[in-house]
Amino acid sequence: MVFKCLFVLALCTCYGRLYEIFLDKEWEDFKRIYSKTYTEQDEKIRKSIWIQNIDIINRHNKEADMGHHSYRLGMNEFGDMTTKEVTRMLNVPKGYATDNVSTFLPPNNLQLPETVNWTKEGYVTPVKNQNGNCTFRPPKIGATCQGFVRVPAGDEVGLQKAVASVGPVTVSIDASLKSFYLYKEGVYDDKKCSKKMFNHFVLIVGYGKHLGKEYWLVKNSWGMSFGMDGYIMMARNQDNQCGISNQPVYPIV
Ligand SMILES: *[C@@H]1O[C@H](CO)[C@@H](O)[C@H](O)[C@H]1NC(C)=O
Ligand SMILES: *[C@@H]1O[C@H](CO)[C@@H](O)[C@H](O)[C@H]1NC(C)=O
Ligand SMILES: *[C@@H]1O[C@H](CO)[C@@H](O)[C@H](O)[C@H]1NC(C)=O
Repeated sequence: MVFKCLFVLALCTCYGRLYEIFLDKEWEDFKRIYSKTYTEQDEKIRKSIWIQNIDIINRHNKEADMGHHSYRLGMNEFGDMTTKEVTRMLNVPKGYATDNVSTFLPPNNLQLPETVNWTKEGYVTPVKNQNGNCTFRPPKIGATCQGFVRVPAGDEVGLQKAVASVGPVTVSIDASLKSFYLYKEGVYDDKKCSKKMFNHFVLIVGYGKHLGKEYWLVKNSWGMSFGMDGYIMMARNQDNQCGISNQPVYPIV
């Protein structure tokens, strides 16, 4: 009995040590890939946050494999940050575009396509990392901007019509969850995502259906390491999840 216990203990210790060695290598890779440099003090903290995030990613993806989630998580350049730190990085522009605002009216006899992807049309500029600067700047707006058009709030079908007939539309969302900043692929669907609170602006560049689940194709501004090369598919027609249809707006150019 005692022998058995000792054996198990040794095995666990050995396994734990192996896992540590594995993690050390992964950690070095992480630092290299995302050009991270830390002070010695900071590195300990960052690494422990990173390990917690790895555990969360692995657990979530195991559940996804069992069919419990429609999306997967993955490591990216924000993997050494806590949810609180990422949330602090978000900011909502103050006092944007309140002048010369009109309301979207869908064109008559609009044929709504099943799928829209404006990045294919070369309409959308490449993903830039704004280093936490959230700017209200849909593509193609500059000195010639004449005003803005609002799409009626809370109407995801109206929003679909706007995206299909006009082009990319800027929306505000709740992006404050860990599942959001560690999102990797699939249709993002987290019931904890707030319908009322918004803290981030993103650009809807299309929509469609992925494995039977309706999505908005959304361009984020956090660089290429976020999600699918900077993009995320967010749940569509799911009771306005993340408040995605609360304040859609596009510029008149
Ligand atoms: C949208 O189009 C781009 C460019 O062709 C492509 O890389 C991307 O995978 C498409 N996204 C979806 C969700 O279809
Ligand atoms: C972010 O915004 C601040 C203040 O407007 C500016 O000084 C800084 O250069 C911006 N950073 C980036 C990466 O655009
Ligand atoms: C307001 O918008 C209209 C049409 O969208 C445009 O013709 C007009 O020049 C704009 N006014 C200003 C002050 O930008």
